[in-house]
Amino acid sequence: MSETAKLNLPDGQSIELPVITGTENEKAIDISQLRAKTGHITLDPGYGNTGSCTSKITFIDGEKGVLRHRGISIEDLAANASFVEVAYLLIFGHLPTLEEHGRFAQELRHHALIHEDMKHFFDSFSSSAHPMAILSAMVASLSAYYGQATGEASMENFEMDAIRLISKIRTLAAFSYRKSIGKPFIYPKSALPYCENFLRMMFNMPEEDYIPDPEVTNALNLLLILHADHEQNCSTSTVRSVGSTKANLFASVASGILALWGPLHGGANQQVVNMLEMIKEDGSNVDKYVAKAKDSKDPFRLMGFGHRVYKNYDPRAKVIKGACDKVLEKLGVHDPVLEVAKRLEEHALSDDYFKELKLFPNVDFYSGIIYRAIGIPTDMFTVIFTIGRVPGWIAHWKEMMEEPKTRIVRPRQVYNGDTNSKYIPRSDRS
Ligand code: CMC
Repeated sequence: MSETAKLNLPDGQSIELPVITGTENEKAIDISQLRAKTGHITLDPGYGNTGSCTSKITFIDGEKGVLRHRGISIEDLAANASFVEVAYLLIFGHLPTLEEHGRFAQELRHHALIHEDMKHFFDSFSSSAHPMAILSAMVASLSAYYGQATGEASMENFEMDAIRLISKIRTLAAFSYRKSIGKPFIYPKSALPYCENFLRMMFNMPEEDYIPDPEVTNALNLLLILHADHEQNCSTSTVRSVGSTKANLFASVASGILALWGPLHGGANQQVVNMLEMIKEDGSNVDKYVAKAKDSKDPFRLMGFGHRVYKNYDPRAKVIKGACDKVLEKLGVHDPVLEVAKRLEEHALSDDYFKELKLFPNVDFYSGIIYRAIGIPTDMFTVIFTIGRVPGWIAHWKEMMEEPKTRIVRPRQVYNGDTNSKYIPRSDRS
């Protein structure tokens, strides 16, 4: 027999609500009939208690620090997979066979070029523009070159659009960087695998060939995997919201990029390194900054700490922290900021405030230190997060489009403003 929850309302009404159980035994009360049957809605600012959909893509147990994509643990994927495989897994629901992998990788190699006209867009951006501003605009404009004339969502060309997006995002990202440093664009080379091709577009010089160190390529592959999906986070929910209007894939993903840019979301990776630099400059006095983060009157927060879902160590941060030492050692990089980060973490984790609120390092805490070590400039950190997250956004957009019951996203509100006021003529207003 299916479970129900009973809700008794103050006006005497009572309603039985179905309880949905997920495959990992998560429980949810289905309130989809609540307003129609009782006239009540639920109120949940920030949606901390609201499931917006059912999904088969990613599972998180925030209390235990578990993250799995299509059932496979993030630790397993990080140790064994390539980013291209993980992209396929997220989007198509299974690890690719040899033949599927070969075809997918081949397509990604062949669709890296952008329409030549799009190159001119870059001339119009200020050279001081943040690469995330450029990237979001460029991804939105992909709909003008590769989308259907109506701009509407369509599954007809889904696979090709997905391939174009995963492939071209690297080119757009690298061109945004080259524009910002006043260097010529480097065209993609279809012989190169995914990460190498991106690194070459970023760092090759006309006068000097860039040959990526395998350590650098492996580190980038790892970081892209760790960012590939994270269920209904803010940017993915944005992609789903925009997609629910039947906006096309490129338009939906462009909106996700803008949501990701915020400093409380993907933009935190850039903020973390800026914060660590500031602490280092201030004599590496970590106690002072832990105290500031605890002070409710001080707006300062420890960037890279805390998470809506994880009330335990973020499993992605654990993998990145482990990789940090290895990558820096193999590359012969000594970054004093890593020492500051470790001390800050140690102090915070032994502090009662952080213990009580269950605030742990998140994915953004150590990632910037690896980005720096492999030569990625600070304002490109969130761009790399974006490249990693694109397959997740695409997977969610596809899942939503294929779900027959999807409705336009349109939350309600509880209005608490003025009631029934009258228009006052301008001349009568004091
Ligand atoms: N430093 C100090 N205090 C914090 C922090 C922090 N980093 N994070 C949360 N808190 C406190 C917060 O002040 C609040 O205290 P109180 O209950 O006394 O008012 C309590 O912890 C709960 O915080 P919240 O802001 O209600 O939690 P949330 O789930 O709404 O926000 C968060 C989650 C990630 C936005 C927040 O922890 C934060 O601002 N962290 C710093 C920014 C950051 O690292 N963002 C990256 C998130 S992970 C990657 C991603 O999503 O892209």
